[in-house]
Amino acid sequence: MRKPFVAGNWKMNTNSHSSVELVNGIVSGSSEVAGEKVHVAVIPPFVYLQCVAKALSTASIALGAQDIYYEQKGAFTGEISASMLKDIGCTYVLCGHSERRHVIGETDELVNKKVTAAIAGGLLPILCVGELIEERKASKTEEVVTRQIKKGLAGLSAEKASAVTIAYEPVWAIGTGLTATPQQAQETQALIRKLLGEIYDSELAGETRILYGGSAKANNAAELMGQEDVDGLLVGGASLQADDFVAIIQAAV
Ligand code: PGA
Repeated sequence: MRKPFVAGNWKMNTNSHSSVELVNGIVSGSSEVAGEKVHVAVIPPFVYLQCVAKALSTASIALGAQDIYYEQKGAFTGEISASMLKDIGCTYVLCGHSERRHVIGETDELVNKKVTAAIAGGLLPILCVGELIEERKASKTEEVVTRQIKKGLAGLSAEKASAVTIAYEPVWAIGTGLTATPQQAQETQALIRKLLGEIYDSELAGETRILYGGSAKANNAAELMGQEDVDGLLVGGASLQADDFVAIIQAAV
């Protein structure tokens, strides 16, 4: 049984005061269900990880980072390693978020190095995949997502790959208010699960959590998560208000 998983990606938002206020609101609103009935994670900007970690100390909510660098340490100005993230209490890390792929220019090869380094460092990567609007219109969704998954997981044994959560986030749905229909999400996510079965085996495919992301909100969360292969949500905009995010968490139960 795959337990639902709801993660809030705060992106480049909040400050030292509002990050703590937000996480406190999420903790108090979700304490009855978080951990027990639904896995919950918050993913603040790097600089607020520690103050959010402190606010989470007695809560059953996990902490995640938005990115990682694949080297362990050394002369890599501006970068953050797996051991640093682990050291301050992170469990999860996003790898290959669409904004990093399409705004910053990350390649599948770089994303693969990050996923591999995250696992080696004891973190649980959330590998993000998803097609651009032109790719969907050209019926290339399957081709793009298949390439991103195969390249993203390249070289990982089934044991290592079992640490990975996949997030299917169609780029055209992120931050646009244009949510994929539950059927569109289900169709692609079933395809991703089938692909995992082909790359690995049916056990790994059956156990891997596949989240949907892209304008997920309180009013569409239940229907999206009602789909067989939608095991939870990666939420951007709607994770920045405690009430909205708590409503999404409640919708997972
Ligand atoms: P959104 O972002 O919910 O604001 O569309 C989702 C994401 O990028 O993870």
